[in-house]
Amino acid sequence: MIPLEDNFADIIDKAQRGLGFSDGVLAGGAGVSVDELCAVKAERFDERVVRRLAAPLRLGADALADRAWHPAARQMSGLASFTTRYGGMSVNAYVAHDSVRAAAFDTGADAAPLLAFLSDRSLMLELLLLTHCHSDHVGELYRLKTCAFASEREPVAGTETFSDGHVFCVGNLQIEARRTSGHTPGGTSYVVRGLEHIVVVTGDALFAGSIGGAPFAYEEALRYDREQVLTLPDDTIICPGHGPLTTVGEEKRHNPFFTA
Ligand SMILES: [Fe+2]
Repeated sequence: MIPLEDNFADIIDKAQRGLGFSDGVLAGGAGVSVDELCAVKAERFDERVVRRLAAPLRLGADALADRAWHPAARQMSGLASFTTRYGGMSVNAYVAHDSVRAAAFDTGADAAPLLAFLSDRSLMLELLLLTHCHSDHVGELYRLKTCAFASEREPVAGTETFSDGHVFCVGNLQIEARRTSGHTPGGTSYVVRGLEHIVVVTGDALFAGSIGGAPFAYEEALRYDREQVLTLPDDTIICPGHGPLTTVGEEKRHNPFFTA
């Protein structure tokens, strides 16, 4: 089981930096001491303090204090995920495919398992679509010898660009590019239609139970996630850049950034 990318302390830190609160302002707003805030940020869980911090951070208190939730594992034919190690963390890349043709989403830190998957199934890789330009997501670009695309808001060397709303067709799949900037200016999520469930590949715009850090464009990140991802049907499978798969319905109930 892939662990969640972020725990309560990571989430509190992301929200605090996004809103630009000092420790003193946040602790004062929550009615806790700075020492209590710092202990929680050092991962010493205290339910009373965590719940108090939720309101000034505009986070859902129940979701923030819930340490048992983990999204149910999802598997679906036509969708494959590849988790590779990058320094001390792991990063995800994905393939969506019909019986002949495939699209890849990001490269991961090591493209070998993705390339082996394609060759084992004799799938033709028609497109590589990048969610954003960070090196853990694009570092193996040169190994996937196919047409690669990144948003015109964030051109990446060696790729073509597209505009928001562009629809790519790969075999029986339609793949719509949606703006989800905030974590980076070019952040893009890809909505894939043509499989049993709709799939959305979010990169670092949205994780199971969290979001990618966006200290300089926090409101923007939240707004695009709300408007472009969480408006999809509840059974839409979300494929994040880090951490486990989830669904729109799970995130609407369990992601503290969207349950306040
Ligand atoms: Fe990133």
